[in-house]
Amino acid sequence: MKLMQVDVKIGRAESEPADVLVLLHCEGQALARQDGAVLDSILAGSLREILQSKEFEGKANETLLYHTHAKIPAKRLLLVGLGKKQDLTLDSMRQAMGYAAKRVRQSKADSFTVMFPSIMPKGQSSIETAQAMVEGAMLGGYQFTVYRSENSAGKDIAALTLLAPQKSQSRQLTEGVRRGIAAAEATIFVRDLCNHPSNVMTPARIADEARTIAKEEKITLKILEKKDMEQLGMGALLGVARGSHEPPKFIILEYNGAKKRDERPVVFVGKTITFDTGGISLKPAENMEHMKADMTGGAEVLASIRAAARLKLPLRLISILPVAENMPGGRAMKPGDVVKTLSGKTVEVQNTDAEGRLILSDGLAYAQRFKPAALIDIATLTGACVVALGQFAIGMFGTEPRLKDQIRKSGLKTGERVWEMPLWEEYFEQLRSDVADMRNIGGRGGGMITAALFLSKFVGDCPWVHLDIASTDWSERERAYIAKGPTGIGTRLLIQYLIDRSL
Ligand code: BES
Ligand code: MN
Ligand code: ZN
Repeated sequence: MKLMQVDVKIGRAESEPADVLVLLHCEGQALARQDGAVLDSILAGSLREILQSKEFEGKANETLLYHTHAKIPAKRLLLVGLGKKQDLTLDSMRQAMGYAAKRVRQSKADSFTVMFPSIMPKGQSSIETAQAMVEGAMLGGYQFTVYRSENSAGKDIAALTLLAPQKSQSRQLTEGVRRGIAAAEATIFVRDLCNHPSNVMTPARIADEARTIAKEEKITLKILEKKDMEQLGMGALLGVARGSHEPPKFIILEYNGAKKRDERPVVFVGKTITFDTGGISLKPAENMEHMKADMTGGAEVLASIRAAARLKLPLRLISILPVAENMPGGRAMKPGDVVKTLSGKTVEVQNTDAEGRLILSDGLAYAQRFKPAALIDIATLTGACVVALGQFAIGMFGTEPRLKDQIRKSGLKTGERVWEMPLWEEYFEQLRSDVADMRNIGGRGGGMITAALFLSKFVGDCPWVHLDIASTDWSERERAYIAKGPTGIGTRLLIQYLIDRSL
């Protein structure tokens, strides 16, 4: 997909040439001077008339497009509702811009201009508001058309201009746009990787993607091959990869923008299963194609290190991707097999479909060598997460209140919200094995919890948070700025955490 070009411009709605000029409007508000009153008099009261007739009221996500017949330089006006002023959040801005982008694309326009609103979400700066607006616009227009001969949905919008009346706003808006572009481009990258089918997005291809990023952003890259893993003793990752003809990869990227070069890093670990058949504990056929997105966590840690580099954040970040394909096969791991993990702990594999925690255990153990200031793993880990949280919350577990609070805050800001679940030792009973240090499944109850508790045995004593994104990584329907299929949710959460941490 062609990425949208986004710019900030100082100017006034009534004198700005545009394909489509977008006005964001709160329900029940009079036309604000900045947003509409001047325009209204030029357009001979038509805006006022529309509001009075209730053809458009400003309800959340309502849109109305009409032609200006050369009364102003903008060819068309698009009114987009923000809902009630008192309910306005960053996510209302994001959603409104998502709908705006869809409507603009439908109208066949190539570019659009939006008036930066005079009303902003409570407690948010114009940096954050502009960021959210750009995210909404870029993500709302997302489409994945690589494998289609004809694109029926219309071509990508080339450009967006954020128009503000006052010169003094320009610096903040420019910074917001810069962050918004980085966060949206990262999410788009993740959606693309997850949309590609598993016959294309193989472990080798993931390694290629990492190489490209490392080269373009001057990030340090190390890729461990199968023989390196054997030497190190990554028995868990090797075990999962055994059934596949695709050799596993273990990818480590390091971005260092810290003033103190040897500062303790933030370390991200992302589950990267390029396809999860379940292995010998084979999954049912229905919806199995979703499992091409079982690499979402890995794509997200890859995308967020690229974003950190592009934003030149003053911190040290390491992203780790254990990569494998989970297949049944003549050499595949079998239920009851015991593997020795990199940490030295042994695991009885009672179910080969609980492969995420296995590859992550080696990823988390490897992370220990960097003495992380914060260790965060992100994974499409359990069906139990979907059962517990539905589609709107990411499952969060962790050992340090401060880190959890920071992630919670990033969640509220980005709309990629997390909900904490318990990590109580009592649950470990369910993970006891008769033959090894632990088993990889925890029985019927609390499936999301026992998976997290399993991971906790590999994180040493560094501050750690685990995010289960199985609930949010795939959407059954298209929403304002959330695509149908792979959503990339979690990407902006990670990036916002990095931004806020480095301020
Ligand atoms: N990748 C799946 C989890 C998943 C399920 C992600 C649905 C997204 C949507 C994971 O590897 C898995 O298969 N988990 C098993 C664990 C079980 C065998 C203990 C599950 O949740 O069924
Ligand atoms: Mn599985
Ligand atoms: Zn999986």
